[in-house]
Amino acid sequence: MPSHAGTPMSELAGGESDPDGRAMIEARDVTRVYRRPRTSLTRPGEAVHALKGVSLTVRRGERFGVVGESGSGKSTLLRLLCALDQPTSGSIRFEGRELTGLPERRLRFLRHSLQVVFQDPMSSLDPRMKVRDLVAEPLVALGEPVGGRVAELLDEVGLPASAAGHYPHQFSGGQRQRIAIARALAPRPKVLVADEPVSALDVSVRGQILNLLADLVDELGLTLVFVSHDLSVVRHVCETVAVMNDGEIVETGPVDDVWAGPRHPYTRALLRAVPTLEGLL
Ligand SMILES: Nc1ncnc2c1ncn2[C@@H]1O[C@H](COP(=O)(O)OP(=O)(O)OP(=O)(O)O)[C@@H](O)[C@H]1O
Ligand SMILES: [Mg+2]
Repeated sequence: MPSHAGTPMSELAGGESDPDGRAMIEARDVTRVYRRPRTSLTRPGEAVHALKGVSLTVRRGERFGVVGESGSGKSTLLRLLCALDQPTSGSIRFEGRELTGLPERRLRFLRHSLQVVFQDPMSSLDPRMKVRDLVAEPLVALGEPVGGRVAELLDEVGLPASAAGHYPHQFSGGQRQRIAIARALAPRPKVLVADEPVSALDVSVRGQILNLLADLVDELGLTLVFVSHDLSVVRHVCETVAVMNDGEIVETGPVDDVWAGPRHPYTRALLRAVPTLEGLL
C-alpha cells in the first residue's frame, strides 16, 4: 500500500468506472486534436488527431507503462494526465477530481501530488542553477520548507552530498537524470510520471537508472506512469501496459501476459521490432 494514499474512499466509491475505489488517474474518451501551422491564407492548418478516444485507469500503487512507436501519442497522453495540456474532449480525473478545464491556480494539489521526469535531463534542468537549487525548486515553488531535504534526496538517488554545489553540465547523462529524479521526488509526490527517462542516455547506464526508478517507486510506495517505445524496458519496471498505435490504445493488460502472448497484430509487430535489454539489466 502506498505510504501516502490520500483521498477518502467515500469520494471515490460508487463511481461506475471505479468500483473498488483504487483509481489514482482515470482518463475517459480523451481526444486531442492539434492544428498544424496554416500554409495557405484561405485554409486552416491541417488537423492532427493525436489522441482518438483514449480511456485508461491507473490504480494506486500501480506501475503503469505506455508503449508505442514514435508519433503514436504517448507524450500527448502524458501531458494531459499531468494537466500540462488540455484535451479537446473527454475527462481526466485525479483521485476522483476532474482536471479538465481547471486553471493553473486550481492545480496546486496536482503539482504537489504528481511529478514528471522528462527524457532529456540536459534540457529539463536549467544549466545556470546549482544542483542544490534545482532540487529545492519544486519545494520553493510550493512554498514548502527545504531544510535538509536536498541532502536526503541526493542520497536517495545515489549522489554524494557534494553534488549540491555543482552545475548540471559537470555531471554525466546518468547522473543528470538522477538529479532530475531527486527534483521530482522533492515534494513527496504520490505519482511519478516518466516520459522515456532513459532513451537519451548511454546504453550502459540505462539499466542503472531503470533499477533506481523501480527501487524508489517500491520504497516510497509511488504510483508510476512510465512511457517508452520499448516494451522490454516497460516490462522491467511496470506491471501493467497499454499499447498505443496511432492515437489509440490497442491492447492493455498485465505486461507479462502482453509480452508472452500479444493479441493485437500491432503489439506483435512492436515486439519483433524492439531491441532487448537482455544483458544490460
Ligand atoms: N504541438 C503539436 N502540434 C502539432 N502536432 C503535434 C504536436 N505535438 C504532437 N503532435 C503530433 O501528434 C502526434 C503524437 O505525438 P506525440 O509526441 O504524442 O507522440 P509520441 O508517441 O510521444 O512520439 P515519440 O516517441 O516520438 O516521442 C504526432 O503525429 C505528432 O506529430
Ligand atoms: Mg514522446
